[in-house]
Amino acid sequence: MPIEQTLILIKPDGAARRLTGLAVDRLDASGLEMVAAKMVSVSEDLARKHYQDLAGKPFFENLIRYIRGEFHGLKDHRILALVYRGEGAIARVRQIAGATNPEEAAPGTIRGSFGRVTTKGQFENVIHASGNAADAAREIALWFKPAEILPS
Ligand code: PPS
Repeated sequence: MPIEQTLILIKPDGAARRLTGLAVDRLDASGLEMVAAKMVSVSEDLARKHYQDLAGKPFFENLIRYIRGEFHGLKDHRILALVYRGEGAIARVRQIAGATNPEEAAPGTIRGSFGRVTTKGQFENVIHASGNAADAAREIALWFKPAEILPS
């Protein structure tokens, strides 16, 4: 298994429901190493760049509003961004997170336990986790400066 890095965002519903500690606890218990962490004020520009591949999807504008905390009254649009590193980190974190759609996420995963789909069809799935190596590299570079990540 290659050593990988992956980006995790504790989304506004996760912060609002006080699930940050629980999510970090599960990530730490995996044995993966936390190598970067910071609170980020999510600008409109950052949100649109993060989800750039989804522009044009019917849920896109609400996804931008969601990650900026507009549905959860998040102060200053701030969310916690993390980088974890370790063997097969991308798939392992996705497994801990559970399927993207909370209704399809296995019980016991973060999304399976705590995610929901709103009556308007919006996923509130607690955390973001990079989907593959290319996305992870792009997303980490978008959210963190190289000097903010512990060297391996
Ligand atoms: S995945 O797992 O990244 O391949 O999932 P994908 O289906 O491509 O979804 C990418 C992101 O879009 C979000 N999404 C939605 N948000 C709101 N409503 C609906 N219906 C919806 N469908 C997909 C999904 O949560 C993914 O964002 P992240 O931040 O990765 O969870």
